[in-house]
Amino acid sequence: MVSENSPDRGVSCKGLTKEYGQGQSRVLALRGVELDIPPGKLNLLTGPSGCGKTTLISVIAGTLNPTAGEVFVFGINLNRLSKKKVTAFRAKNIGFVFQQFNLLPALTAQENASVPLVINGWTKATALKRAADVLRSVGLGDRLNSLPSQLSGGQQQRVAIARGLIHEPRLLVCDEPTSAVDAASGHAIMQLIRSVAILPNRVAIVVTHDQRVLPFGDRIIAMEDGHVLSVKNQEIDVARLNGKLELENA
Ligand SMILES: Nc1ncnc2c1ncn2[C@@H]1O[C@H](COP(=O)(O)OP(=O)(O)O)[C@@H](O)[C@H]1O
Ligand SMILES: [Mg+2]
Repeated sequence: MVSENSPDRGVSCKGLTKEYGQGQSRVLALRGVELDIPPGKLNLLTGPSGCGKTTLISVIAGTLNPTAGEVFVFGINLNRLSKKKVTAFRAKNIGFVFQQFNLLPALTAQENASVPLVINGWTKATALKRAADVLRSVGLGDRLNSLPSQLSGGQQQRVAIARGLIHEPRLLVCDEPTSAVDAASGHAIMQLIRSVAILPNRVAIVVTHDQRVLPFGDRIIAMEDGHVLSVKNQEIDVARLNGKLELENA
């Protein structure tokens, strides 16, 4: 059976394990992850370096196959789809912001951000127009024609975020999205991600080490050594987060 409902049609991980390498170099990166992520919330994934955060979100986003276990994304078991179907599902429904940005070096910021729309069949002209709007919303309206090599790390990170959000994916996964930006930009980025995350039927997972990001999360998922240690819900002080942004932009 290809499709199966998780209880709430968000993301559900059952008994996930992931091994890298073999013999002496074998690493057990995920050791049986059980995790349910309901929609409409911003989930932060935290934990020490090397505990398996990037591995877990890569498996959830269908870019990496688990060694054992299953992942359901909006009720769909990605491991049971053909490669072609996973690619099509990902293009339409998943946005991934990589830790290393992964921008295409020969494309401008605007072209990079437009890629998910072009893949989804938008004309180049409309995709570029929309890309310009999204880049403006991350403060890069004046760098549309810059190549990645002409941008700072923080600017490249914001292009990567624009590209991750542009097709309004139902599942948004961001790996350390504020690691290269200053406090004010980090705040604006988290507000943008949060505004997308809290829409009904959306799931957002943000991997972060950044203490400044923690107040934005509805749920804090703590990992350690390939396991989920705890999941805590917290109340969000929306007024405070909004107020702070205005202050920093002033
Ligand atoms: N491609 C890979 N090949 C071998 N080992 C890997 C690979 N990717 C990650 N690992 C190992 O798996 C463990 C978890 O890594 P990772 O998921 O990147 O952790 P985190 O994102 O929490 O820092 C680490 O021990 C790491 O060295
Ligand atoms: Mg990582």
